[in-house]
Amino acid sequence: MNRVTVIYPGTFDPPTNGHLDLIHRGAKMFDQLIVALLRNSEKTPMFTLEERIEMLRENTSKYPNVRVDSFEGLLVDYAAGQGAQAVLRGIRAVSDYEYELQMAWMNRKLDPRLETIFMMPAEAYSYLSSRLVREIAQLGGSMQGLVPDSIERRLREKFPQQRPSALAENGR
Ligand code: PNS
Repeated sequence: MNRVTVIYPGTFDPPTNGHLDLIHRGAKMFDQLIVALLRNSEKTPMFTLEERIEMLRENTSKYPNVRVDSFEGLLVDYAAGQGAQAVLRGIRAVSDYEYELQMAWMNRKLDPRLETIFMMPAEAYSYLSSRLVREIAQLGGSMQGLVPDSIERRLREKFPQQRPSALAENGR
C-alpha cells in the first residue's frame, strides 16, 4: 500500500499550541507529516526562518514520522517533489474558511492530484493565532497555554523590556 505523505505548510511565526495540536493529530493519521515553512514570504517575520525551524524541531522531536523543512516557490511544486498526496491546513472558525477555501481551490487548479485536508485544533485553541501571540508578547501579557515554555522564553528574549502584565502578576 502507498505511504501517505502530507505537507503542513505555514509561516509559524511563532509556532503555537494550536499548530502543535494539529501536528499531533496529523502525526497519528498519516505515515509522514512534513511541516514546511515558506521561505522568503512577503511577510516580515518576528523570528528568522532558522529560529522557527529550531522551535518546531524542538517541539516535534517526539514524533518519528514528522519532519520539519522549508520551501520556496509554489506549494504544489514542493509537494510534488516530496511525493506528497495532500496538504494539511487548520481551520479554527468560519472566518478562516474563505481564505483557506480559496487557497485549496487554487492549489487544486495548479495540481489536481494534490488534495487539501482541513482539520480542527482542540477547541481551547480556536481563538489562538501567531499574530495574537506576537502582540501579547510585545505588550508583556501572559502566554501561558498559548505556546510551549521554550517558545515563551524565546518571545520574552525578544522583548526583555516588557514586564509580565499586572493581570499575570496577580495570578488572575
Ligand atoms: O501560515 P500561513 O501564512 O497562513 O501560510 C500560508 C502558506 C505558506 C501556506 C501559503 O502562503 C503558501 O502556500 N505559499 C506558497 C506559495 C504558493 O503556492 N501560493 C499559491 C497558493 S494558493
